[in-house]
Amino acid sequence: VRDIILDSDPGHDDAVAILLALGNPAINLLGVTTIGGNQSLDKVTYNARAVLEKAGAVDIPVHAGCDRPLLRPLKVAASVHGDTGLDGVELPVPTRPLDDGHAVNWLIDTIMASEPKSITLVPTGPLTNIALAVRLEPRIVDRVREVVLMGGGYHVGNSTAVAEFNIQTDPEAAHIVFNEAWPVTMVGLDLTHQALCTPEVQRRIQSASDNLGPFVSGLMDFFRKAYAANQDFVDPPVHDPCTVAYLIDPGIVRTRRCPVDVETHDGLTLGMTVADLRGPEPSAGECHTQVATKLDFDGFWNLVEDAIRRLDGT
Ligand code: BDR
Ligand code: CA
Repeated sequence: VRDIILDSDPGHDDAVAILLALGNPAINLLGVTTIGGNQSLDKVTYNARAVLEKAGAVDIPVHAGCDRPLLRPLKVAASVHGDTGLDGVELPVPTRPLDDGHAVNWLIDTIMASEPKSITLVPTGPLTNIALAVRLEPRIVDRVREVVLMGGGYHVGNSTAVAEFNIQTDPEAAHIVFNEAWPVTMVGLDLTHQALCTPEVQRRIQSASDNLGPFVSGLMDFFRKAYAANQDFVDPPVHDPCTVAYLIDPGIVRTRRCPVDVETHDGLTLGMTVADLRGPEPSAGECHTQVATKLDFDGFWNLVEDAIRRLDGT
């Protein structure tokens, strides 16, 4: 069983990542930390708590993190996630109060108190919290098992032609995280654009259970419209749960080892994740970063559907 911490900005696809982590027995979700990104910190923190409430997971702590990037102003993604950050569904009022303590401090304390190499960090928003944590307590680099993040892309962007939203929002933080010596798996747009919620997939999800099935389907209805309006997608790409799926079953996400660095200079390529895919492929000893390349579509959606069923006990 994998101990993970989700650092997220829910967000429609972040919400699905939370549900997949909660609903799969191979994952032990230690807590959720939040980061301003898709919407303001207040909104995404509320959303994280509400999603956990919806899933009946009131034992999971939520710690709020940074409300803006290290150096730059926050530009939220209201056109993709709506004014609330989770438009399209009715959210329950969270019964568990927000946990005390800044996310960055909680991350450090939790990692330093755990067995070495036992915790996997799963960031699915801008990397500000993780970058600050590693600067405040550099020993977490050796202590963490690995970092599996949603962000970037080696052949395509979405915020700009070459930069993805999470990385472009806080490129300096991303630069820090990619350049530390811990193992980093970049689950970028190359992979997540294969995780399309087709009408057929959505029907299966909708009818998987009475509670979370219609909830996730409602999220997908909004996401479908947003992606059709903004990015000319027919079916929406459900990015963030691909990270969790990789941890549940690495066979679902093929990877390629290669150096990755982040462009922090202003200009056309700000926030680009530059992957050096020239051969031969380096070994794990030579290179601590890898990128996700190919998704097992059916395997992925089966995991999501299975998680929804388990959480609702159907
Ligand atoms: C990423 O940006 C956010 O809008 C999504 O939640 C995902 O993490 C995709 O670029
Ligand atoms: Ca996200």
